[in-house]
Amino acid sequence: MRLRFRLPSSVTMIRSNSLHNEILSKLKLGREEFTQKLLNRRWTLPSPETKIHQLIHTQGRTFLLNTHPSFHVDSNKQSKHFYIVRDDLLHPLVNGNKARKLDALLPLLHHCSVTDVVTCGGCHSAHTAAIAVLCAERGIVSHLLLRGEQPEILTGYNLMSTMYGNVTYVPRTVYANREEMLKSYANSVAGNNGSVLWFADIIQAASATDLSISPNFMQMDVSRSEGSHLRKILVVNEGAGDSVALLGVIRLVQYLSQDHLLGKQRPMKFVVDAGTGTTAVGLGLAAHCLGVPYEVYAVMLADKIDAYRKQEERLISEFKKHFNFEFIEGAGIVNWVERDRPRKFGNVLEGEVEACQNIAQQTGILVDPVYTLAAWETAMLLSSNEADGGQVVLLHTGGTLGMFGLAQRYKKYFGMIKKDSNHF
Ligand SMILES: Cc1ncc(COP(=O)(O)O)c(C=O)c1O
Repeated sequence: MRLRFRLPSSVTMIRSNSLHNEILSKLKLGREEFTQKLLNRRWTLPSPETKIHQLIHTQGRTFLLNTHPSFHVDSNKQSKHFYIVRDDLLHPLVNGNKARKLDALLPLLHHCSVTDVVTCGGCHSAHTAAIAVLCAERGIVSHLLLRGEQPEILTGYNLMSTMYGNVTYVPRTVYANREEMLKSYANSVAGNNGSVLWFADIIQAASATDLSISPNFMQMDVSRSEGSHLRKILVVNEGAGDSVALLGVIRLVQYLSQDHLLGKQRPMKFVVDAGTGTTAVGLGLAAHCLGVPYEVYAVMLADKIDAYRKQEERLISEFKKHFNFEFIEGAGIVNWVERDRPRKFGNVLEGEVEACQNIAQQTGILVDPVYTLAAWETAMLLSSNEADGGQVVLLHTGGTLGMFGLAQRYKKYFGMIKKDSNHF
């Protein structure tokens, strides 16, 4: 005879709770193991390390920079503050977020014996300059298609693209069809004997998580120089907004989440400026992969919220497909926030250059009016509202050389920048 009995509901609850916890912890373990494997690869940056500073703001616009903050003792209960991840200091010429987005890509070029890279961007593109510098460091030839006309005086990222790479200016009408433009240019570089690769062609290598077993760089260089001189051209999309770009950002968050730094337990609000939104999605994905309670606030600079949500969905679905990542459903990992004073992408408004100057003079940190000022202002706002215990972290994406191009374009704002001329 079978005995039938019912467990008291509290016992059922305990059982289902413990089952739930067990499933959750297995899921977490699975995710962590997956992430470890994913990050076990060759990188461009020798280490993910970056400096973390703390900005203390007392009343509105008075700032104080602490370059040796404590992450565990909240010594500044009276004043408002946020942490700043100083990725602007990673490289003198390569933007912080470009260094992260290209961190996993460059070793793949070696892995696939790529000889040339073709990419495109605006006249003052930080992306093309980053590609040019990083490729030149590795003996890879870069071909940079820049939108519009050559400026009379070369400066900033435009000058760096020209110094390190092969620049071609493309009429706006031709540039409007980017894919066609990149394709025909890459074909012309390849000639009859070379071959053209797109990101989809090298993703196989990117998803082979253990790239450490691939031949090392020296061997690759030798084989290239001894090879048949056939050119292998890789086309990199504008802004390098492919799934492989997310890996470098995940690597950064893994570094930051170490116990002696931001840790894995305390809630953090990460703030970042969003152009294509790739860096922001990388941060959100990183929090998910690493199981840390970090939220991402991305200031929308170039588009409307629907476009950013679409971009988020696209990147997540590519990431799932390319790296067999099964631990995420749908999107919604980034809080997309409106800029304080919305405007057409790239525009500077009155008073912003002075705001950047004020920050620079008080802290030694340079923010630019297009990208990083927007993130700075959002971090100020969030940290002003933050109740005790919550922490705000600004990812400083760099963009220093962008100021030179802006100064050329916005003479009226940069021409009348405040000068202290009372002493003469
Ligand atoms: C300084 C700076 N911050 C942010 C971005 C945008 O990054 P993402 O396209 O990953 O959103 C850029 C892009 O050029 C940039 O130069």
